[in-house]
Amino acid sequence: MSQATSYRVALIGGGIIAKNHLDAIQVHPELQAVAIADIDRSKAEVWAEAYDLQAFTNYQEMIETERPDIAVIALPHFLHKECAVWCAGKGCHILLEKPMALTLEQCNEILAAATEAKVTLLVGHTQHYWPANLQAKKLIESGRLGPLIAIQDTRHLPYFSEERPRWFLEKAKSGGGILMNLGAHSIDKIQFLTSSRVDRISASMTKYGSIGDVEGSSVLFLTTSTGVAATIVQSGYLGKPLDLTELIFTGGRARLISSAGLWVSEGQEFEIESLDALEDPFIRMYQDLVQEIEEKKPPGSSGMYARSVIAAIEAAYLSHDEGAERKIDPFK
Ligand SMILES: NC(=O)c1ccc[n+]([C@@H]2O[C@H](COP(=O)([O-])OP(=O)(O)OC[C@H]3O[C@@H](n4cnc5c(N)ncnc54)[C@H](O)[C@@H]3O)[C@@H](O)[C@H]2O)c1
Repeated sequence: MSQATSYRVALIGGGIIAKNHLDAIQVHPELQAVAIADIDRSKAEVWAEAYDLQAFTNYQEMIETERPDIAVIALPHFLHKECAVWCAGKGCHILLEKPMALTLEQCNEILAAATEAKVTLLVGHTQHYWPANLQAKKLIESGRLGPLIAIQDTRHLPYFSEERPRWFLEKAKSGGGILMNLGAHSIDKIQFLTSSRVDRISASMTKYGSIGDVEGSSVLFLTTSTGVAATIVQSGYLGKPLDLTELIFTGGRARLISSAGLWVSEGQEFEIESLDALEDPFIRMYQDLVQEIEEKKPPGSSGMYARSVIAAIEAAYLSHDEGAERKIDPFK
């Protein structure tokens, strides 16, 4: 009987999102987490103890010593490029957390390094893997409610909290505030649901955050390459959190809460659509990674795809600065 391939995985960055990665890796028998690196030794040691891993404070030393097949990069945004390029040079397949990098230029460097090393690069755009998002995409594609004419995406959460790691609030390290961090999810969600790319965008932002120098709100108006109009309204100030995407068709409306479900109204009331499962998106993301490495499926959240999210974000910042709409070519 042929033995299934097994992949040794090393995690770079033992912060808030490390647990999601380590739990999802455990679900897949073909993946084995072997090591973790964090410059903060205590963090590396906590995860190492809990998941039976080798702990390192230097990721380069970890990769050289452990020689993993896959490197998972969950670092502050300003380190994504240098770490991804270095890991590709060592022949590791890469799962790089979103957003891909700070700029399009950095994305190009990562893509060139992954291509040259012939390694798989998947960027952690988890919107591709929420069961409710997959169901919403199916609803759009089925034509059951007629053509999709607009999307209204709303996201609120107190962003300037003492618990948030400080680098998120420093533009030089994060690339931006609520738009760079959560806007990356909203733009990804809209592109994923509509199987398209952002084509034109205009943006308006404010900076009333109590800490740091990043924007605390962004309002975006965009159109997709398939002609769907969308608004994204995000604020990181006070008030009850909300993550709601409304889909407006000619034959009805749908309300999508990615982590909870999909509700449809074809008349007066909204009724919940039954979900196959409420599986954690990280589990499906790792399944995708393995299938892409084994060339069993075309890339979904590839480096080239993730670059298009940065193209839209970069254009949104420029639009705000210039007070004008920006046209985007995500392939240039
Ligand atoms: N997909 C999602 O839903 C999702 C959710 C949360 C965060 N993220 C992304 O995950 C990434 C990490 O976010 P986080 O919330 O875990 O941040 P975090 O600040 O909690 O974790 C980052 C970790 O990197 C470590 N670090 C910094 N420099 C290092 C270096 N040179 N070598 C090794 N370790 C180093 C820090 O000590 C810290 O523990 C970001 O890209 C973020 O946007 C994605």
